[in-house]
Amino acid sequence: MSGILDIDKRHIWHPFTQHASERDQVVVTRAKGASLLDEQGNEILDLISSWWTCIHGHAHPALVKTLSEQAARLEHVMFAGFTHPPAAQLSQALAAVLPGDLNRVFFSDNGSTAVEVALKLAFQYHRNKGDAGRTEFFAFEGGYHGDTLGAMSLGRGSNFFTLFQELMCTVHTVPYAETWEGDNAIAAREEDALKTFADALDAHGGKAAALIIEPLMQGASGFRFSRPEFVRQISQMARDAGLLVIYDEVATGFGRTGTLFACERVDFVPDIICLSKALTAGMLPMAVTVAREDVYEAFLSDSFDTALAHGHTFTANPLACAVACKSLELFEQDKALEKVAHIGERNAAQLARLMAHDKVKHPRAMGCVLAFELAGTQGSYKTGAGELLRDWYLKNGLNIRPIGPTVYLLPPYCITDAELTRAYAGLFEGLEQI
Ligand SMILES: Cc1ncc(COP(=O)(O)O)c(C=O)c1O
Repeated sequence: MSGILDIDKRHIWHPFTQHASERDQVVVTRAKGASLLDEQGNEILDLISSWWTCIHGHAHPALVKTLSEQAARLEHVMFAGFTHPPAAQLSQALAAVLPGDLNRVFFSDNGSTAVEVALKLAFQYHRNKGDAGRTEFFAFEGGYHGDTLGAMSLGRGSNFFTLFQELMCTVHTVPYAETWEGDNAIAAREEDALKTFADALDAHGGKAAALIIEPLMQGASGFRFSRPEFVRQISQMARDAGLLVIYDEVATGFGRTGTLFACERVDFVPDIICLSKALTAGMLPMAVTVAREDVYEAFLSDSFDTALAHGHTFTANPLACAVACKSLELFEQDKALEKVAHIGERNAAQLARLMAHDKVKHPRAMGCVLAFELAGTQGSYKTGAGELLRDWYLKNGLNIRPIGPTVYLLPPYCITDAELTRAYAGLFEGLEQI
């Protein structure tokens, strides 16, 4: 065993890991472009972008340069009573690329905290407007919004957090109309879901502060796609019933579904949007919760009681803000969305073969994401077949990490054609091993 692994085993508690049975962690010492390099120098293609973060690839020279220059200039300053150029520039840049008047940027550290802030904003927004009765939320079956208490409550429909039910706030979960390639029954499922949602709004809408949705694609519960019209209708129904609409674009933001933000294709401006993961292109932990002007205005008064009493020590860290600004610039310079479109075309070209495969169910492609279920396999986060596959892929130089029975690719946008060809070949070969 390597020295690092030995120390790791003695001291580290890894996330989402059962240490009594988990195999050894892979020691990664370097990364470049679409590849990770382990201690022995073996290359592993990072086909899930290190938990969906490093959109432009690992160690992108422009991001490394920006980070080191910013570190030499200003590494951190508390963000109450102080501001700094990277935060100002990033908030301006985000307001420019987000639709409508999503202009007010609140910084935090990760996807869960972005959601936690959204939840508190929605709750307090109604209070500040004189409606103290809106204390509940609506979310979707299969939704995942992070693992702090509020985010867990919203994601209770993902079944990740059943153990913690007693700690959760009141959330009504409504059906999610999921679709895939060759699905002919989606219109009927959408109609049913909309009807159930309308009934739930009738029953509980008057007590609800907000609806939260991962637009177009639920991530952690298995890359479950939905159609833009469905998301738009659900969103409008919630707004008409007086709820705020929160889009959790922690996973879908920054090009994943083909446009910079999924809400562009939905053609709906949410009241609040949560962004993280690819915000800093995988370089540093940071998140933002961006609100529309009228949400922000509801917090203004001559009393601190109506202000948002929330903040983190590393709020708007200058290093993370500078890197996030640079990452946005790279969308232009590196033609990132064209790269997503190209990956999307190549993914789509795999669909026919996947449809015909006897071990594959419900193949689907959107933006740079390719996903399918292992036919005949059920189960939650760690499923036997998925785990076997994960091991085989890793041994064969591919970081493909099924979520339960869902196998997916979500590569960095810099992945080359040759690397993608290798990924597809490995993907299918792996299926023969189970
Ligand atoms: C849609 C969505 N929201 C929130 C989160 C939580 O983000 P984090 O793990 O950074 O707390 C995730 C994480 O996968 C996510 O996919």
